Amino acid sequence: MLIDIIKKRHSIRKYTDKQISRSDLETILEAGNYAPNAGGGQRSIIVAVHNAELTQKLGIMNMSAFDRSQLIGSYVSKEQPSVIDDPKIKNGFYGAPTVVCIFGQNNFLFRDADAFCIAENIVLQAAELDISSCIVSRGAETFASDVGKQLLKEWDIPENYGCICFVVLGYIDGEIPQTKPRRKDRIRIVE
Ligand SMILES: Cc1cc2nc3c(=O)[nH]c(=O)nc-3n(C[C@H](O)[C@H](O)[C@H](O)COP(=O)(O)O)c2cc1C
Repeated sequence: MLIDIIKKRHSIRKYTDKQISRSDLETILEAGNYAPNAGGGQRSIIVAVHNAELTQKLGIMNMSAFDRSQLIGSYVSKEQPSVIDDPKIKNGFYGAPTVVCIFGQNNFLFRDADAFCIAENIVLQAAELDISSCIVSRGAETFASDVGKQLLKEWDIPENYGCICFVVLGYIDGEIPQTKPRRKDRIRIVE
């Protein structure tokens, strides 16, 4: 059942070096490509970096402009600490060997919503394939440098597009974390 896949997915921030296969990546990207999208416009662009070295480089660029002064003190995960929890983490992609970069058209109202619908399809398809994942933000900051802008040129990203978010992919190193209990009273049914 889909609900079982939804419940078994976790944001994973500790990865082994093992790369995911090209065919699994293609299936995951196909899931992203079939996400709902505003107006049926299919505007988002998806670039998968299936290269551990370049993913690592991008992960460090992702953290280079991280401003810790704005953090509000609550923790994200004790078992899978995030960059918010652990200031020693310098790679915002946590050592995952693959990253999917999702780009949106800058002046489009539903640019971010479209990108995160894609990200959600991707993490669920990955979970079905027993591939771990984590959605990561700070898209604009990651590509703000000259190196970042050069990559966008190489990838043929139009000038009026920006990176909205990432999904990192790989295999978990260590134990699968517990699911956080759900907050009460978030769901109401009106008959
Ligand atoms: C919009 C959005 C942005 C996120 N950005 C990050 C991020 O930059 N870094 C990170 O480690 N996790 C990020 N996450 C993952 C969340 O921290 C994670 O979903 C949340 O802690 C719940 O844990 P779970 O995904 O394991 O259920 C993001 C999730 C969403 C939906």
